[in-house]
Amino acid sequence: MKTLTVDLPGRPYDILIQRGLLDEAGAHTKAVCPKARRIFAVSDTNVAPLYGERVLTSLKDAGFEATLHVIPSGEASKNPTQLAQLWEAMMEAGLTRTDAVLALGGGVIGDLSGFAAATILRGVDFIQVPTTLLAQVDSSVGGKTAVDLQHGKNLAGAFWQPKLVLMDPDTLNTLPEDVFMAGMAEVLKYGCIRDAAFFANLETRPTRAALMEEIETILLTCCGIKRDVVLADERDTGVRMILNFGHTVGHAYEKAGNYEKWSHGQAVAAGMVAAAHLGVSLGITPADLPERIQKAVSALNLPAHIPCSWEDLTHAIALDKKGAGANMRVVLLTKMGWAEPVSLTREQLEGQLRKLWEEGVIG
Ligand code: NAD
Ligand code: GLY
Repeated sequence: MKTLTVDLPGRPYDILIQRGLLDEAGAHTKAVCPKARRIFAVSDTNVAPLYGERVLTSLKDAGFEATLHVIPSGEASKNPTQLAQLWEAMMEAGLTRTDAVLALGGGVIGDLSGFAAATILRGVDFIQVPTTLLAQVDSSVGGKTAVDLQHGKNLAGAFWQPKLVLMDPDTLNTLPEDVFMAGMAEVLKYGCIRDAAFFANLETRPTRAALMEEIETILLTCCGIKRDVVLADERDTGVRMILNFGHTVGHAYEKAGNYEKWSHGQAVAAGMVAAAHLGVSLGITPADLPERIQKAVSALNLPAHIPCSWEDLTHAIALDKKGAGANMRVVLLTKMGWAEPVSLTREQLEGQLRKLWEEGVIG
């Protein structure tokens, strides 16, 4: 078993990584929620049939009264209507303040049920059992929970740290190829922002099979980086911004495809290449990095370039909002394995972006 502790003052929690861990979910939950009688598990229509019964059995074997609430899979479920239905179902099940909510699924289930746990009865314990690569390396760690509003993604939410994160890498075997590779975009991101040796190791593993051989170490490395960033800036007012490397241009790409053509992971992959080009043009990023990142994403069948309009690009970077002279912060690589938020004048950023966009390098 690989273990990492997220040592937040007064709210420490462990991340446990081990193949087959789903069958031990009950015992580990008991250890962190000794007073809980009921566990309200939440999953989606793809994950529940695959893993729901195993987790329920393990919880019941550990002495819990356990129920499984299943919601339709997909981002469309991460909304206030589903949240309200979850609250009602929790009350219907008899959840009390000493009980706990368990998320079994990807980032959608984690974000939605985490927000429900943060708000029901003014907050109950929360266990994350992430089953996608993205959820294991990113969304299950760090305490961000949210639902989407009509005005945009993740606009209503709370910081609510889990009591425990249980990762069973075997669950990744049932992921569709594109969902697995979307998670790999975030894995590559960790190498770019904080660990050059890790990135170099990933370059030697361009297939899913080769990555799965080392998956425990990959998960541990990514979660270790995320843990350190979250410990430095839990509330996302400073350095946590580096986790968004590639995401700003990525958002423009997602929008350009109407959030249908390109998944978040695909958009982030191309967004990292774009951010590397931007860094080179500003004299901050070494000249060899765009091609290096491009090769790594292409090897995983992720796109290295996505066309988008100048309007989408400036909107994603908030360049379209006037505020003359104001400085803007963008996350750029100063070398492979090191990202920093860099402050630029609006004119500097707009000028470089426009040049790269006209050359067809970005968008
Ligand atoms: P997801 O939860 O929609 O899962 C992707 C697909 O995989 C779904 O169809 C799901 O049913 C299926 N699936 C999940 N596990 C499976 C398994 N083991 N086998 C087979 N199919 C499985 O999406 P995601 O990519 O995991 O997460 C995306 C969400 O995460 C977004 O809503 C995003 O905003 C959020 N997110 C949150 C944070 C955070 O810090 N809270 C960080 C990054 C992303
Ligand atoms: N995924 C970005 C964050 O957790 O801050």
